[in-house]
Amino acid sequence: MSYLEHSATFAVTRTQDSPGAVREGASEDLAAAFRRVRLATDALVAALSPEDRAVQSMPDASPVNWHLAHTSWFFETFLLMPYFRGYQVFDEGYAFLFNSYYDAIGKRQPRHRRGLLTRPSTGAISAYRSHVDRHMEWLLADADRPDVEALVRLGLAHEEQHQELLQMDLLHLFAQSPLKPVFDADWPARPGSIEGVFRRHSGGLREIGAHGEGFAFDNEKPRHKVWIEPFEICDTLVSNGQWIDFMNDGGYSRPELWLSEGWAVVQAESWQAPAYWEMAEGASGWRSMTPGGMRAVHRDEPVRHISYYEAAAFATWAGARLPSEAEWEVACLAGILSLADAAVWQWTQSAYSAYPGFRVSAGAIGEYNGKFMVGQMVLRGGAQISAPGHARPTYRNFYYPSQRWMFAGLRLARDARPVVKDDRGNGEFAHAITSGLSATQKTTPPMYFYDEMGSELFEAICQTPEYYVTRVEKKLLERIAPDIAALIKPSSILVEFGSGASEKTKFLLDAATRIRTYVPIDISSAALAAAAARIANDYPSLRVMPVEGDFVTMVETPFDFPKGPRVGFFPGSTIGNFSRDDAIRLMSSAKAMLGRGSRFIIGVDMVKPLDTLLAAYDDSTGVTASFNKNLLTRINRELDGNFDLDSFEHTSVWNSELSRIEMHLVSTKSQTVDVADRSYIFQVGESIHTESSHKYTVDSFSALAMLSGWAVEKRWLSEGEEFAIFCLNADDA
Ligand code: AVI
Repeated sequence: MSYLEHSATFAVTRTQDSPGAVREGASEDLAAAFRRVRLATDALVAALSPEDRAVQSMPDASPVNWHLAHTSWFFETFLLMPYFRGYQVFDEGYAFLFNSYYDAIGKRQPRHRRGLLTRPSTGAISAYRSHVDRHMEWLLADADRPDVEALVRLGLAHEEQHQELLQMDLLHLFAQSPLKPVFDADWPARPGSIEGVFRRHSGGLREIGAHGEGFAFDNEKPRHKVWIEPFEICDTLVSNGQWIDFMNDGGYSRPELWLSEGWAVVQAESWQAPAYWEMAEGASGWRSMTPGGMRAVHRDEPVRHISYYEAAAFATWAGARLPSEAEWEVACLAGILSLADAAVWQWTQSAYSAYPGFRVSAGAIGEYNGKFMVGQMVLRGGAQISAPGHARPTYRNFYYPSQRWMFAGLRLARDARPVVKDDRGNGEFAHAITSGLSATQKTTPPMYFYDEMGSELFEAICQTPEYYVTRVEKKLLERIAPDIAALIKPSSILVEFGSGASEKTKFLLDAATRIRTYVPIDISSAALAAAAARIANDYPSLRVMPVEGDFVTMVETPFDFPKGPRVGFFPGSTIGNFSRDDAIRLMSSAKAMLGRGSRFIIGVDMVKPLDTLLAAYDDSTGVTASFNKNLLTRINRELDGNFDLDSFEHTSVWNSELSRIEMHLVSTKSQTVDVADRSYIFQVGESIHTESSHKYTVDSFSALAMLSGWAVEKRWLSEGEEFAIFCLNADDA
């Protein structure tokens, strides 16, 4: 399973506690894992002839037979010899032939001469593998020692690395043949990813690196703090199409785009395109060597087989840069990268070096990674040819900047654009509004509705006869509060996302007396302070710890909770105001924040007849219209805007495809509006999409919860089934 193949998979696999994602091998019995990995290697080479297996096509590559023997030698040397009492080595000469780079073990066949080893034969190497497998099975049946387990896990990760190397090497070998042989007839074309957008990340003080749990290489540790400036990262990979545009724009002949060293390599190697690309006879387009033989280069597939130098030149050409490995990791864990590990490893701008506090392990095994920490660059992600479950968000791959035979591509990053500051230092608001108004469908984030007037207008909406949501939810909450209370453990911490006036919280606090601490999170300092004071006064034995801020950012920020089980509370169907992807991201971040043993109580508005929905978002007295237009008033006031409120009309429409009510402000004339020193043109009928309110069914929300890594423990429906409250459980997912 890929750890991040789709954002949906990501949500299931991502937890802060186990950044290694859900790996097949993690819970698998060690002997079964050993068998699975060894058989996977055998399966990869099953169709190869003895001749295919013996040849070395370049010094960086090794013959298949060498990989097969070396991975066996690894188990023989680091496990069977020290831990299998009375073990007889298969052949004394193999230590010289199949030691890769371990100086502590002894001398070895030079790497560039591995292709000269026509002996031992393919048959002898198979026998060697079987011998090692048999003894390892015996060792694993007997040994139940943590040091053995750790070495076996390392040996398996090592073998999986060689599975990938073996395919890279074979591709290079077969690419040299005029016959362009196929070694994976099922090699799939990757679905088009492409058309990425830059996603902003606030950066800040973050932690990267592997936690203690699950397997990780030593170079991923120790986990440590990093400071990251705000940045933007492209949510997808650079495509072949973009690469062709770069080439057509003289990418390979413009020294100003290249690092000096890279430009020298381009000249020396006469590079004009990624490795393996050839212009087809008759110029019908580019073709490229793949595991499935020569294939047409598709514009919408991620580009691959490029060096660091090429990646950096492309990024310069595109007006961007490569992400640092820390940026890549935090963005990955924030769920904003697609194709994170499913297509190609992605070059970063980070030089491969030791993390602060890194210690080389004792003995020969300490040579595994540490001694290569110079002159190479880090790649993150994973590749289509990586073993399933091999990669993780903290994984650090590394290659020399000129190498191209690995499955390497890139995604772009850039420094976060300077925020246009208004005179109150209101930068985030200005940035959100100006970038939203610059989009093809103009849009504004709904969180900015809630200035003082907006919050009052929202309260007024809740009083209108048409807006059933708040009334129905409160009634339901009152009825089921004892059932919820029964699920809350002693000394729990209640964390409310967007607590506002903390009105609904009281139903829970009254019923669940086991709640010891209340953490309301809200962006409005006034509302937060007032609500916190009121709650502290009404519940004297409750510890109230208000947190001011946007809860969407908060859930991604390390937070020091007092000890005790955590219960998230997110009423009001505010989850409906998030797109599906953002809802998944938010709920999975909430899971990481709330941690093991947590529960998440969420209010969700259900799909219902259209006339009810449309009326709820366009009430007859026009309160919702005023709420919507108040955003324009706020922009005029805070961002020096000149919206004419009379030339915009409030509408609400049902988007059946996305199951949501959308609120828009439609321009009734063609006009130009200025905001924060920029001008925006509106055609007649053009709208600003100001809010979406997604409506769910029990099934559709349960699926969303599951994709976010939560299990539905219980759910309750209001009497008319207009509204649901879900209790999600972090542990049963
Ligand atoms: C806050 N949120 C859940 C409300 C909703 O129903 O989407 C906001 C709202 N917009 C218009 N009316 C109410």
